[in-house]
Amino acid sequence: MRHATGIQDFGTAGVEEILAQALAWKQGPHPKHLVDKILGMVFFNPSLRTRASFEAVMARGGGSSIVLEVGNGVWKLEDREGAVMNGDKAEHIKEAAPVLSRYVDMLAVRTFASGVSDDADNADPVMNGFRNLGTVPTISMESAREHPCQGMADLLTARETFGSTKGLPVTLAWAPHIKPLPKAVPNSFLLTAAAAGCEVRVAHPKGFELHPSVMAEAQAFAKTMGGSVTVTSDLDQATEGTRVIYAKAWGPSTPSGLGPEAVKAHPEWLCSPRHFDNAAKDAIFMHCLPVRRNVEVADGVLDGRWCRVVDEAENRFHVQRAIIQWLLNT
Ligand code: CP
Repeated sequence: MRHATGIQDFGTAGVEEILAQALAWKQGPHPKHLVDKILGMVFFNPSLRTRASFEAVMARGGGSSIVLEVGNGVWKLEDREGAVMNGDKAEHIKEAAPVLSRYVDMLAVRTFASGVSDDADNADPVMNGFRNLGTVPTISMESAREHPCQGMADLLTARETFGSTKGLPVTLAWAPHIKPLPKAVPNSFLLTAAAAGCEVRVAHPKGFELHPSVMAEAQAFAKTMGGSVTVTSDLDQATEGTRVIYAKAWGPSTPSGLGPEAVKAHPEWLCSPRHFDNAAKDAIFMHCLPVRRNVEVADGVLDGRWCRVVDEAENRFHVQRAIIQWLLNT
């Protein structure tokens, strides 16, 4: 049984297969490939794009979806092994995941990082709990470690723009925020770009390192695909000649000694038109959304000629159709 909770599930071959299917279907009529299929969606955290795009995928494919918002008309769910459940969490995922699996053909889960410990978030306890305890394919709608559907949509956007992504210089640029954000989106952009053979440059201030296991996985993809992954704290160096600037806020690494206020300490990292001065002339701007204007990214970028954020959001629909096809056609 296949799962789609991380880029490693696809592998480099799966990334290409899914992208090719997404592109083919994007250019043609909507296939009715999900007749009688039901997707169960479990949201521990809010969403706009993810929920709407998955519901659209199921409806347009001839299937249907069940949406459960944990704690909002649905029991709060415990995931800890050995927990004494004398608090507000009335049900354990040990029961919830297999029960839901009896009703649906796939289970999709959104659960954000705790932000307390990078090691704990890297272990991805809730997503892996559903993956291990459920009896149907599991899809990540963003977890503590990864957001693979977003990464694939980002890669599709770059592929459509530039034709090929092999050797493409792309820059993942840390951005400021009002609060520490999870690392799932930067992790997935890095992993997906590396799996496609891009020349990936990761730029962040000191103390905001991504988890060593994610970096090692990205380096392994790059080695397989003949690409590269480099890290710098010099944003100008990272944007020199780049074709993609992908801005994203994320919180300090743990343990780094930095407190939550550190995300506000580098206002010069606000992504602004000047960051495109030394980029390639045809460079594009990407962001997963939602974005805080003039905190993470300046209006001049989001309203400027570089911006592809709406195309990325549309591409969530196209790649998710293809991911579900890849999951079910085994
Ligand atoms: N990019 C993304 O996952 O958006 P939502 O949080 O709105 O689903």
